[in-house]
Amino acid sequence: MGVLEWATSPWGQHVPIHIAWFLIWVALIVGLLFLIVHAIWLRFFAAHKEFAANSSPGLTARIPARVPRHSFVARAFHWIMAASMFTLLFTAFLPRVGIQFNWVPYHWIAGTVLTLSILYHIFHASFWLDFWSIWPDKQDLEDAWKRIRRFFGLPAALPRKFAKYPLENKLYHGVIMLSGLAVILTGVFMMFRVRTIFFPRNPYLFSDMTWGLMYVLHGLAGVGVIALVIMHVYFGLRPEKLPITKSMIFGWMDRDFVLQEHDPERWAVTTTPPSTLRPEPEGD
Ligand code: HEM
Repeated sequence: MGVLEWATSPWGQHVPIHIAWFLIWVALIVGLLFLIVHAIWLRFFAAHKEFAANSSPGLTARIPARVPRHSFVARAFHWIMAASMFTLLFTAFLPRVGIQFNWVPYHWIAGTVLTLSILYHIFHASFWLDFWSIWPDKQDLEDAWKRIRRFFGLPAALPRKFAKYPLENKLYHGVIMLSGLAVILTGVFMMFRVRTIFFPRNPYLFSDMTWGLMYVLHGLAGVGVIALVIMHVYFGLRPEKLPITKSMIFGWMDRDFVLQEHDPERWAVTTTPPSTLRPEPEGD
């Protein structure tokens, strides 16, 4: 049983036409296994997280009671993207597992919404947000090394607290970005294969082999998104992560939550006037 489905073109060429659909189940199982193993590990085996003390107690004292984390526009983008992603997943995969409906128009419309929202996100993140906050930096890698050594019981100093995003979130962003770009770039060309409002249908734009590879890449990235979305929703619903999910709804986080895992020297939080400051918690 191969991972691709093949066909013979009118010119006798053996060409891939799309992925084998059992990969949908593989992605579902991988996503669910990940969350089961992670939940068991966290419940029974994981050590308590430990960080080095913040290097600037002065900055710590200036953190406001409510720390702004996501602007209204950033939150709107996140939820529009989430709605379009779920629509794309359900319209693409339900018909493959036996639930038949006229999925193509809903799919390309959701694809267009996702494409426009991602274009906006790239523009917004490049010019308004702190562009580099989502990419791993040298400190993240040094701390990851310390965390790995400590995990194996080897001697290592305590890692620093995180900047705005922990390394794990940055890596997740990188992987979902690559899968997202793959489905978008292939999806835009695949719109030439179906009837849309944007351009006339032209199935002869590419050779059968190129179309086949494009459908394969679209499908592979698409099933990858199944596992990635399961992991993302799982973390969003975990009790200790709920303050992060709440910040994606209301835009801010509690000071105490921020100070547990974030270093104000690495994340330049908006500070409040001294009159509203609260006493600095012990140990920071
Ligand atoms: C999470 C994102 C996405 C997933 C999981 C997904 C999944 C899929 C799958 C499994 C197919 C069937 C492919 C085949 O038969 O081999 C498909 C087809 C298609 N997708 Fe997507 N897709 C996504 C995003 C997009 C985007 C962003 C666009 C447009 C910009 C798009 C446009 C299309 C089009 C036009 C087709 C072709 C329909 C046809 O030829 O009948 N998709 N998609």
